Amino acid sequence: MIASGRTRLAGVMGWPVGHSRSPRLHGFWLDHHGIDGAYLPLAVHPDDLGLALKALPALGFRGCNLTVPHKEAALALVDRVDDAAARIGAINTVIIGADGRLEGRNTDGLGFLANLRAGAPGFTAPGATALVLGAGGAARAVIVALVDAGLARVLVANRSPAKAEALAGLFGPVVGAVPWAARGTALAEADLVVNTTSLGMVGQPPLDLSLAGLPAAAVVTDLVYAPLETALLAAARRRGNPVVDGLGMLLHQAVPGFAAWFGVTPEVTAAVRRFVLAAPP
Ligand code: ATR
Repeated sequence: MIASGRTRLAGVMGWPVGHSRSPRLHGFWLDHHGIDGAYLPLAVHPDDLGLALKALPALGFRGCNLTVPHKEAALALVDRVDDAAARIGAINTVIIGADGRLEGRNTDGLGFLANLRAGAPGFTAPGATALVLGAGGAARAVIVALVDAGLARVLVANRSPAKAEALAGLFGPVVGAVPWAARGTALAEADLVVNTTSLGMVGQPPLDLSLAGLPAAAVVTDLVYAPLETALLAAARRRGNPVVDGLGMLLHQAVPGFAAWFGVTPEVTAAVRRFVLAAPP
């Protein structure tokens, strides 16, 4: 592309940022809609995050996404945040308002739910029980989304039990902690299983979990999308459980930012999915 003086600008701040698929995703949508816009990878050192965020309006940016390790720190550096971001304690999207102020949002939970609805249309959230594995930043977004979707019970199992208990205290009474060692037995109650840990990701150890006790109709989803079919999803698919991979969450969380910056609500299609998947490693 050749940028003009009118090119709408956005990007993703991360450190490092080279692994991010967001430039490819937004680039696809910009091309598809013929928008005079650019979405750039922005390698921002953690020490420079405040400076970089403050510079966005001065540089004419419409906003940006935030990825590892900036999501929590950025929350305190923007002018206002939405309700989901305040509860999750992190932002992944910044939109520059008409007044030049920075508005922080968290669309990870929305992305998670949209992906779940698209991938497992038979899943009914109200009244259901979920088992969430992990209690880090990603788990917080998932838990808030599940509580808001009306689940009756959200069980959180984490290797470090204090973190799961803290989340139960914060988001209770629907949310409860279960010991990491009891994750296999807790499956018996689950209508939905969500892996939010890094286990199963390329280069990480596998998630050690036998699905023997899982009800046949329970949906299994993994936030890990490299590989696209984790060992957890493969095991669930083999025993006939509905499975939802993690790539869709990345695609769906990006929709509100793109709409705000570039003025068109993009669609999550098979074509954009293929394009993002075809990224060089
Ligand atoms: P994210 O923002 O992606 O959630 P995070 O906040 O670093 O990343 O959280 C990583 C999660 O993966 C945590 O729940 C972590 O468990 P701990 O809280 O006990 O660290 C979990 N995790 C990472 N490696 C793990 C391992 N080898 N076994 C079990 N859980 C692991």
